[in-house]
Amino acid sequence: MKVESVKVKRPISAEERERRTKMEDELKDARTWFDYLVPRQLRRVYFAAGAVSCTVASVIALTKLLQNPALQVEDGGQYNLAINLVGLILFAGAYTWEGAQAEKRVERRRTIREAQIRLGDREVYVNKEGEKMSRLKPVDDNWILRRLDRWGNKDKLPMIGPKKGAILQGLVVQRAPQTIVEVGAFLGYSAIRMGQVLPPGGRIISYESDFKWLIAAKRFVWQAKMADKIDVRWGRAQEGIPQLKTGSLFSKPIDGIDFLFLDAKPSEYLDYLLAAEPLLNPGAVIVADNAGIFSKSLTEYLNYVRGSGRYKSEIIESTLEYRDDVQDGLEVSTYKGTDLS
Ligand SMILES: C[S@@+](CC[C@H](N)C(=O)[O-])C[C@H]1O[C@@H](n2cnc3c(N)ncnc32)[C@H](O)[C@@H]1O
Repeated sequence: MKVESVKVKRPISAEERERRTKMEDELKDARTWFDYLVPRQLRRVYFAAGAVSCTVASVIALTKLLQNPALQVEDGGQYNLAINLVGLILFAGAYTWEGAQAEKRVERRRTIREAQIRLGDREVYVNKEGEKMSRLKPVDDNWILRRLDRWGNKDKLPMIGPKKGAILQGLVVQRAPQTIVEVGAFLGYSAIRMGQVLPPGGRIISYESDFKWLIAAKRFVWQAKMADKIDVRWGRAQEGIPQLKTGSLFSKPIDGIDFLFLDAKPSEYLDYLLAAEPLLNPGAVIVADNAGIFSKSLTEYLNYVRGSGRYKSEIIESTLEYRDDVQDGLEVSTYKGTDLS
């Protein structure tokens, strides 16, 4: 493993403290109110003290019993011994159990740290004292994409994924658009990918019809530090896009669309395109996801972009997100403009 040497600032700033608090969520212990009220260290001190006092009391009771068995038994001295022995067993048991729990917790945190290092979310460094340490990397676009890819892989989420995402990024680089409109934000994954290669001054308007995904996308876009260039809007794209021309109380009108990414309901792709067509700038690139796997539902759309004469269109073949064994593709169409000569 590559070990980086970096300067460690001490004490850590309030900003850094806040950042760590936010990011250490995976390392946080599941604590109950009891843990907050009586922390484990305090419990261990209490159990240790209890065990020691029961030991001392047992020794005293036993000594007395040996010295004067008959009198002691009459006085109930044997109960005194028994109670202290039981107390000793309970306190010692609780002390040992708490110790085992503490070790388990340390082990769990170590496992999580190692996983974070392996996944690239945590970096290893050597501090001023020469000790090998690790810390979470700052949350940025790549951090968010790594996390979303992990979820995507695990739960086969319908995000464009790294393979088609790289193709999409290549197309954005080629066209260098100032205005991108996306239909279907979901968690903001594809918007963040496009945002990574957006030329300076460019912006992305991404539509999401489901409120819960809108909130999630806004969160990830904000965490990826792209809120200034990615505007996730709530609503059905076919209704929102025509309003882009005139703007609204909250948004300025746009000059035109240079890049349109369609990734919502395949049966509605043609509706999205027809809603956007009056705003398309000549040379605008339209990318339709899942043109391979959903080619049947996309028949109308594909017939339109391939046969209307308004577009130069072809499919770029790839595989379905997070599945190397299922063929898929992106239909890439270039708008020729209204002058069709
Ligand atoms: C396949 S996901 C989008 C994935 C995203 N583009 C990515 O790659 O990360 C499709 C999303 O489109 C949204 N959606 C469906 N119909 C829509 C519409 N008419 N307008 C806007 N969003 C829509 C769904 O709620 C869903 O979150």
